[in-house]
Amino acid sequence: MGRHQSSSLDLFIDPSLRNTKRDGIETAIRIAIRDGRLRPGTRLPSTRSLAQDLGVARATVSDAYGQLCAEGYLAIRQGAQPTVAWIPPVAEAAPPAQAHVAPAARWDLRPGRTDTSSFPRDAWIKATREVLAGLAESDLDYGDPRGVLQLRTALADYLGRARGVRASPGSLMVCSGFTQALWALCIALRAAGAQAIAVEDPGAIRARDIICASGLKVVGVSCDSQGIRVSELRDTAVAAVLVTPAHQYPLGATLSPERRGELLGWARAAGTLVIEDDYDGEFRFDRRPVGALQQLDSEHVVYIGTASKSMAPGLRLGWAALPDRLRESVIAAKEQADRGNSAIDQCVLAHLIETGDFDRHIRRMRANYQRRRNELLGLLNQRTPSIRPVGIAAGMQVILSLPSEMTEELVIAEAFRRDLLLHALSPYRIRLASTRMHAVIAGYGTPSQSSFRPAIGALANALEAASTMQ
Ligand SMILES: Cc1ncc(COP(=O)(O)O)c(C=O)c1O
Repeated sequence: MGRHQSSSLDLFIDPSLRNTKRDGIETAIRIAIRDGRLRPGTRLPSTRSLAQDLGVARATVSDAYGQLCAEGYLAIRQGAQPTVAWIPPVAEAAPPAQAHVAPAARWDLRPGRTDTSSFPRDAWIKATREVLAGLAESDLDYGDPRGVLQLRTALADYLGRARGVRASPGSLMVCSGFTQALWALCIALRAAGAQAIAVEDPGAIRARDIICASGLKVVGVSCDSQGIRVSELRDTAVAAVLVTPAHQYPLGATLSPERRGELLGWARAAGTLVIEDDYDGEFRFDRRPVGALQQLDSEHVVYIGTASKSMAPGLRLGWAALPDRLRESVIAAKEQADRGNSAIDQCVLAHLIETGDFDRHIRRMRANYQRRRNELLGLLNQRTPSIRPVGIAAGMQVILSLPSEMTEELVIAEAFRRDLLLHALSPYRIRLASTRMHAVIAGYGTPSQSSFRPAIGALANALEAASTMQ
């Protein structure tokens, strides 16, 4: 299919991008929004006129618009043309060709990043030397698609004692971070007939993209101070739900004991799956450790952990504890993707866990992030007391809930003027609720020790400026 011109909008729609026309329309519009060709507020053609232009049934366009609305890309009001609702985070505003290039800014408080300046280089070098000296030639061959046994054994032990995860080396799969575990799971679920996966709203944007790219639909389920609202799941027809129980991303709530029970009850009754993203489970500050949800039901919960927060994202190492019924298909999807992760890196990480260096590093980083968080909260309390920090008990980011007279757009713009990168909460939402809370997310993991103070100073300046501009 070629280029199609809708009556009111110059829009390249190539329905052949996907298996079905509806998928093709959805994908084309999603891409156009993400790469900035369709800007926030742009009105899309009515379902009737786009259906005519494309020569498809009106219901096909209507379904595609409905899904894009559920994903937060479009806002649809009764009787009005749909409008683009997705606001790119500052970091994603660059065109795709440059997407791999970090946007130029002096200070970076975007969430999801870690203090890579504290990577334990010396311990890693020492462990690499020891590992290489002891590796057999066969260890450097293609290996078990689940990962190196030594690492799976070390992880089974570590995850059991540190996170309460019930896993044996045989049930663990080493992979390229949470990203690959989710991707392989989606492929396996889709092959088993799944159509849709529920996600937290607001929630991680990248996870939604992965689910959609695998051909599954995304269904948003709202969250409150107890975590995901399980009651909303009962009205969905999803095969699984992706949750962040230890520290909801990005709002920061911990899934309450009642909701944990409800969630597992739902999964058992509906024969569905809970996907537990334990991205920053190691980094808790003010409250007692919260164990993994997976320990309560290892057949209905897939546990996914990552070295991206505890060590560094560049390692591209993560792990999943897989229920029996999914093990083979998920591992097969992972094997098709890459035939395994670096054996050397896996052995080095195993060595660090076995020697206790990994635990020591986690303890050091926990103290480091707690210090940064306290410094940030202290400064904001002093300079901008009307701004309420939320979700502060763990992790590497806080939500800054803005007073009613301040908007996200204004704070982001003021931050940008000060060479500071920050994310607004809106793009993390799927449904833009009518009474939406305006908030920005400040990650405090990234700036190196030396630039942390100036970075949070720039944040306080931006917030102060935005508050006086109303
Ligand atoms: C919610 C969430 N989960 C998991 C991850 C880690 O992904 P990966 O392990 O692929 O680096 C991130 C990274 O920012 C994240 O924000």
